Amino acid sequence: MRPVAAQILITKRIYPEAVQFLRSAFEVDYVDHDDGLTPEQLRARVRGKAAIVCQLTDRFDAAMIDSLEGVRILANVAVGYDNIDVAAATRRGILVTNTPDVLTETTADFAFALLMAAARRIVEAHAFVHSGEWRRWTIDLLVGYDIFNKTLGVFGLGRIGQAVARRGLGFGMKILYHDLRRAPEEVEAALNARWVSKEELLAESDFVSLHVPLTAGTRHFIGAAELARMKPTAILVNTARGPVVDEAALAEALERKTIAAAGLDVFEAEPKVHPKLLDLNNVVLAPHIASASVETRRRMSMMAAENAAAALSGRRPPNLLNPELWIQP
Ligand code: DGY
Repeated sequence: MRPVAAQILITKRIYPEAVQFLRSAFEVDYVDHDDGLTPEQLRARVRGKAAIVCQLTDRFDAAMIDSLEGVRILANVAVGYDNIDVAAATRRGILVTNTPDVLTETTADFAFALLMAAARRIVEAHAFVHSGEWRRWTIDLLVGYDIFNKTLGVFGLGRIGQAVARRGLGFGMKILYHDLRRAPEEVEAALNARWVSKEELLAESDFVSLHVPLTAGTRHFIGAAELARMKPTAILVNTARGPVVDEAALAEALERKTIAAAGLDVFEAEPKVHPKLLDLNNVVLAPHIASASVETRRRMSMMAAENAAAALSGRRPPNLLNPELWIQP
């Protein structure tokens, strides 16, 4: 393909094959570092562009979207798209896409890794061995909690929630889930998963894993009241979005041991972490890397590039979030 006039802005570093793919057909303005652009820089840089390949740290609120002239598509390099006001984009006729499916298993692996690390105190154990404090075997040295045969509660039985539940099945776990919509019968049957109320899930689960999107309705979905319903031996895992959990309330619950532990990949004000969480041993912390395998991050980059290329070539982008805009004559 020969470069055409349409211009694409890539707001941050992505995998090189995705940049090459776009450069083979379009003029590309590539911000080839990770610092990102301030809203002012973004507004200036976006002039004359028909597509923007963006990341979850780029905020496209209604005001920013209203200032975009001539942009046909925002191609987010993430499955989550709470950084984009999709309704505002739709009003302006701007297509929005995300990167579903390619990161499902990778993210579920990581959620389960956090669950296991928190239950079996792997990070504490590693630090303990490193510290030189290990003198002898004792009956209760770094004892944690069993995982097999326990109850796993999944909030949000979408693609990633189901993949986490499948892992739980492999550990002989009983699967409970809560979602606004009941999953199809065959999904429930395959996972041996039972729909329960939010309250029941919190009260019955040994492990609670969060897989709901961040929306106005899920902000602080887990707060002090929800944490108080959980077992004192329960472990909370969050690989969804930080603001789904009230971080101050969680830090308090972990400090007072009203729940046993947590594994967190996401935070309310990334990259800031509630200072109390940094001082606690019963929480495993990761810097928003649940989808971070080489294979998956490469696939996410390509998928976003393909979405942008499709829109600019007059084809329906495969991962369109506002299909109502795609009315072909
Ligand atoms: C997403 O895709 O939404 C993740 O948070 C980053 O992979």
